[in-house]
Amino acid sequence: MKRRFDKPQAPAPAPAPSHRLVTSLTNPLIKDIRALGMRKVREEAGLFVAEGLKLVADAIDGGWPIRILVHRSGEQRPMLSEAIAATRRAGGEVLEVTGEILEKLSRRDNPQTVIGVFRQRLEPLSRLTIQGEALWIGLDRVRDPGNLGTIIRTADAVGAEGVILIGDTTDPFGIEAVRATMGSIFNVRLAAGSAAEFLDWRKRFSGRVVGTHLAGATDYRKVDYRGPRLLLMGNEQQGLPDELVRACDDLVKIPMRGRADSLNLAVATGVMLFEMARDRLDLPD
Ligand SMILES: C[S@@+](CC[C@H](N)C(=O)[O-])C[C@H]1O[C@@H](n2cnc3c(N)ncnc32)[C@H](O)[C@@H]1O
Repeated sequence: MKRRFDKPQAPAPAPAPSHRLVTSLTNPLIKDIRALGMRKVREEAGLFVAEGLKLVADAIDGGWPIRILVHRSGEQRPMLSEAIAATRRAGGEVLEVTGEILEKLSRRDNPQTVIGVFRQRLEPLSRLTIQGEALWIGLDRVRDPGNLGTIIRTADAVGAEGVILIGDTTDPFGIEAVRATMGSIFNVRLAAGSAAEFLDWRKRFSGRVVGTHLAGATDYRKVDYRGPRLLLMGNEQQGLPDELVRACDDLVKIPMRGRADSLNLAVATGVMLFEMARDRLDLPD
């Protein structure tokens, strides 16, 4: 289906800047933005929605191509004026809308007053190259968008380079996942591929792969994490499958004392990342 925000991906002359007041939910562009709530539409269009003025302004500053900036009618803030000007310079659309339309777009009461529609960036794993003392995270079939968003945010917090999505995962560009990243989606590289593509890529990766497993033989605090590293985390229900376990150089466990069977995936990733990034964060031993 051809949508109004479909534009050629190759550089094209910037269209005439526009700024429209939209009051109707039946406006075709508003309908198209709402349709980005569906994964299929997001993937076809290669776009996603991010909410919040600061977050949208930071993304534009960081060089993310913005297609559409939507803001509440009457909103006047210097940061918004700058974001509007930057959107126009990039050839994007600016829509001024009612509070009701913002509620529908964000599917929330009390929505943010600014929404940005951005082009997705997702690298194919087959072409991913990693240089230097990089720290990456591999997530096997992550299902929960809140977990994924939280992990992207934590990866950003420790200065990790990126996250590899392995197999059939939740969409990192879904609104729930993007919200949970709190803007970190714009700061962390994302790559995706099947388990077979990951195993292929692993052969080219010169660093160590550290897997986490409830049956891990090594305490996670006893491993030397210097050098390029990939932290491999298992699926929420099933953990890491054997084929991915075999790809690990170390298989570690986070000791637990109470009666919980396991840690939540995002929590376990956070515990691991703060240990693995100790040097980067200058934490005392
Ligand atoms: C909710 S757990 C999966 C539990 C699953 N039932 C299993 O048997 O592995 C999700 C992922 O978090 C990590 N994880 C959670 N708790 C852990 C722990 N105590 N030690 C090491 N990894 C852990 C592992 O990567 C695991 O695959």
